Amino acid sequence: MTTKLSFTLFLTLIVLLLPSSPEARRLPFLSKPSHPQNNIVSDNYTYQIRYFQQTLDHFSFHHLPTFPQRYLINTDHWLGPSPMAPIFLYCGNEGDIEWFALNTGFVWELAPLFGAMVIFPEHRYYGESMPYGSRDEAYKNASTLAYLTAEQALADYAVLITDLKRNLSAEACPVVLFGGSYGGMLAAWMRVKYPHIAIGALASSAPILQFDDIVPLDTFYNIVSNDFRRESTSCFDTIKKSWDVITSVGRKANGLDRLAKTFHLCGKLKSSDDLFNWLESAYSYLAMVDYPYPSEFLMPLPAYPIKEVCKKIDESAEGTNVLDRIFNGVSVYYNYTGQADCFDLDDDPHGMSGWDWQACTEMVMPMSSNKNSSMFPEWDYNYTSYAVDCWNEFGVIPRPTWITTEFGGHDYKSVFKNFGSNIIFSNGLLDPWSGGGVVENISDSVVALVTKKGAHHLDLRAATADDPDWLVDQRASEVKLIKGWIDNYYTTKKGVFNM
Ligand SMILES: *[C@@H]1O[C@H](CO)[C@@H](O)[C@H](O)[C@H]1NC(C)=O
Ligand SMILES: *[C@@H]1O[C@H](CO)[C@@H](O)[C@H](O)[C@H]1NC(C)=O
Ligand SMILES: *[C@@H]1O[C@H](CO)[C@@H](O)[C@H](O)[C@H]1NC(C)=O
Ligand SMILES: *[C@@H]1O[C@H](CO)[C@@H](O)[C@H](O)[C@H]1NC(C)=O
Ligand SMILES: *[C@@H]1O[C@H](CO)[C@@H](O)[C@H](O)[C@H]1NC(C)=O
Ligand SMILES: *[C@@H]1O[C@H](CO)[C@@H](O)[C@H](O)[C@H]1NC(C)=O
Ligand SMILES: *[C@@H]1O[C@H](CO)[C@@H](O)[C@H](O)[C@H]1NC(C)=O
Repeated sequence: MTTKLSFTLFLTLIVLLLPSSPEARRLPFLSKPSHPQNNIVSDNYTYQIRYFQQTLDHFSFHHLPTFPQRYLINTDHWLGPSPMAPIFLYCGNEGDIEWFALNTGFVWELAPLFGAMVIFPEHRYYGESMPYGSRDEAYKNASTLAYLTAEQALADYAVLITDLKRNLSAEACPVVLFGGSYGGMLAAWMRVKYPHIAIGALASSAPILQFDDIVPLDTFYNIVSNDFRRESTSCFDTIKKSWDVITSVGRKANGLDRLAKTFHLCGKLKSSDDLFNWLESAYSYLAMVDYPYPSEFLMPLPAYPIKEVCKKIDESAEGTNVLDRIFNGVSVYYNYTGQADCFDLDDDPHGMSGWDWQACTEMVMPMSSNKNSSMFPEWDYNYTSYAVDCWNEFGVIPRPTWITTEFGGHDYKSVFKNFGSNIIFSNGLLDPWSGGGVVENISDSVVALVTKKGAHHLDLRAATADDPDWLVDQRASEVKLIKGWIDNYYTTKKGVFNM
């Protein structure tokens, strides 16, 4: 397996869907399926789309053109400025903001309970929020991409919400931040960096510790592997065995063609590494979306999809060869609806994507695969080859210690304890990103809500009739904590204004 895997993980996934479009390629965490299959649009998710002329570089006074930042806003339930009704701000992730809005039902459901306004600002360089007039121009080279950073995105949210509040005479209204995955990291960091702008943050599945050497580098793939092992050891063993089988078949005459045929690929297989990446993506994404009910987040999938994948891998007739069994298993992920004619592995390594850029600059998340505990092939993190790839792709050299310098991480417990408040870190332990998450309570108000059978920011999804009790409880705890922050804010304000 190539070392690049450690960061292509973020990047390759969804892309591999059929049919794939360049825009949908290589988005991290939560990439958007290229075919719209989300039917969760309802009257409860209505919003206005607005554009705000945003400063391109918040940290210099260069005369640069502004760009239109898109944001979604709903004030239907907002009780307005005079009761200081809250504003719920979702920190946009690396993708189209409408897609995140539709997959964050929890915030929409909370708004009427709190009389809150809802706003979803889009992250710069994603969706429609493009500097330089177009995506092609914005993604042209390292100079035009230079303003794609988490710090700039946080400053965007701060500037936008401050301006919006001024326009609405809503300066005194408390802002609560929400975010999942990378958006959850942004929410937590924004609470810490901009405590005067937001009173608290719900950071769901936010791997703020997946940097530098804070957590063991093998944690991500160990969690993925354990998700499979807990369903069935033979499933885990078959997957673990399959890599060598693929390698040895691939080396034979016409071996790559045989593999392409076995796995119903649309085109030719250029190397068995491409097949490795495709399978690795499926397993990793399955771990992220191992939800307790059928979902269509990344792909249409059954409830607890890993159980179904393992059933297929295990149940195949005795003597069926390993590769056929693996194919049957991953078909649950890539072809659950039975609509796929063939699978397209071509993930266009030269199509620049925003997360590739972020991973090659600030978002260096080192990972390895431990031969003792992982079902993936063994590999070590190799920063040198990571940096070489980044240099070749973008002409930049990553700064792997910048995030911990800018936002902290190494001594996070004492820092949050002494200087932090009003943050919920929620994690589901099936989610491989929980390995880089905060899963211990730090203080009365920096709280970890952990569910054993939860997956990637499950709590932010809309409530369903199939929600297990532990999920209902987790959301209820969140509501209670957020209500506490807001009440406390009002009490403090009363003291100040003597109201
Ligand atoms: C919309 O919200 C209302 C109450 O807030 C709820 O009763 C209704 O089921 C929701 N509809 C959908 C389609 O989610
Ligand atoms: C990047 O592209 C811009 C716009 O086309 C151009 O002005 C600039 O010289 C390029 N920079 C580099 C480093 O190639
Ligand atoms: C605030 O109002 C000004 C003037 O109408 C407008 O240009 C700006 O976009 C508004 N700000 C936001 C965040 O919508
Ligand atoms: C997808 O599933 C359908 C139904 O089982 C099957 O006919 C089709 O061949 C599958 N596609 C691929 C690419 O395997
Ligand atoms: C794997 O296990 C062996 C034996 O317990 C141990 O010596 C070795 O260090 C382990 N390797 C890793 C990468 O953890
Ligand atoms: C790491 O990658 C570099 C560049 O590809 C290579 O020269 C070096 O041998 C690798 N190091 C190890 C320990 O594999
Ligand atoms: C953290 O404290 C809350 C109560 O505020 C509790 O519900 C939760 O289970 C605790 N989390 C952990 C990981 O112990």
